[in-house]
Amino acid sequence: MFDLVIRNTSEVVTCDGQGRPEAVLAPIPRGAVAIKSGRIAWLGPEASLPPSDAEVIDARGSFVGPGLVDPHTHLVFGGERSAEFEQRCEGKTYLEIAERGGGIKRTVEATRAAPERELAYGAVPRLVSLLSHGVTTAEAKSGYGLEVNAELKMLRAIRSLDGLQPVKLIASVLPLHTRHDGWLEQVIDELLPRVAEAKLAKFCDAFVEKTAFTADETRRVMAVARGLGLIPRMHVDQLTAGAGAELAAELGSATADHLEHISEAGIAALARSGTVAVLAPTSTLFLRERKYAPGRALADAGVPVALCTNCNPGSSMTENVALVMALACLECGLTPAEAYLGFTRHAARALQLPDAGRLFVGGPADVVVYQCTSYRTLPYHLGVSEVRQVLKDGLLCWELGRVVRKSQHHGP
Ligand code: NIG
Repeated sequence: MFDLVIRNTSEVVTCDGQGRPEAVLAPIPRGAVAIKSGRIAWLGPEASLPPSDAEVIDARGSFVGPGLVDPHTHLVFGGERSAEFEQRCEGKTYLEIAERGGGIKRTVEATRAAPERELAYGAVPRLVSLLSHGVTTAEAKSGYGLEVNAELKMLRAIRSLDGLQPVKLIASVLPLHTRHDGWLEQVIDELLPRVAEAKLAKFCDAFVEKTAFTADETRRVMAVARGLGLIPRMHVDQLTAGAGAELAAELGSATADHLEHISEAGIAALARSGTVAVLAPTSTLFLRERKYAPGRALADAGVPVALCTNCNPGSSMTENVALVMALACLECGLTPAEAYLGFTRHAARALQLPDAGRLFVGGPADVVVYQCTSYRTLPYHLGVSEVRQVLKDGLLCWELGRVVRKSQHHGP
């Protein structure tokens, strides 16, 4: 009656409760999970598990939880920027490097030059690395093409990745990343209509920053995007304070990402609008900035706080979910429970995926089996993955450092 049963757990943390963070975790002590046809068919205490001759995964006394969701990445790109890392180690800042022709522009050159298939293949190892950290769903942006055909190429590469590896990708078009003459008009007149027509993205993203795009430009582009069925989201208050969170709230943005320089008024605006805050603490570390996003104040104000790796070649060259969780606790003031919800329930909310980031009967069998007894170990074991096995749609896709199966491989 079942295909697969996961048993002998310390607890199954469903992330399917309501209320305070500890209640949302809704763990089932000594729980078991039964899977049929890629969905969760049964969930409860192992003592009540109906008998079956299904295949068994023995969790060996460890905890089990939902597949993680990474709600903000730029993991499709050409080239790399290790030379800029070296320059930052010598004391140059991210903005200084960008002003001298480096930064996002460098990746734009390499991305424009790369064939679509090379972009997709280049992202596969990064996705396998995310998978090894328990990620079964991730957002991926364009934003390194910044001309119509190159943006479309990036989005097609993102779409093709669904057939190359198991992590489910949700695409965002990021037309407002760096500026050049005439680009805004091309975005409005050509890029966004073509993206919407080919259904290449769910979200439309913008980098609102002194050195990138203004609030008025963002308002203009997001009005068009919304009219075409694309959901607004945005990078705000990352490098400087600019009332970006207030803008995200005003525009009904799904998310406000980064927020290192958010003001008290910005926190209050997000709390009123229901916008999800997506924090990227590895970017703060990687850029040698000192100011981390105020996760504690955001959570206390009632803002749902999600976390992301922000995997990208310039400001966060990492897929390390454990490190993000640790920094979220140590530098942003979240509790381990809030950090875990940041990659489960709240991350799924950021991507408007009601079935992801939680375990429930009838839901997708995206399940992680860990090597530790509690979610509390995840941020505590600094930067080290505690993941033993990852299932996507009920298929074992990753186990202790090796991909054992690619789900539905329809490669080109
Ligand atoms: O989210 N802030 C803008 N975009 C990226 C950085 C991209 C890059 O430097 O290549 C971010 O941090």
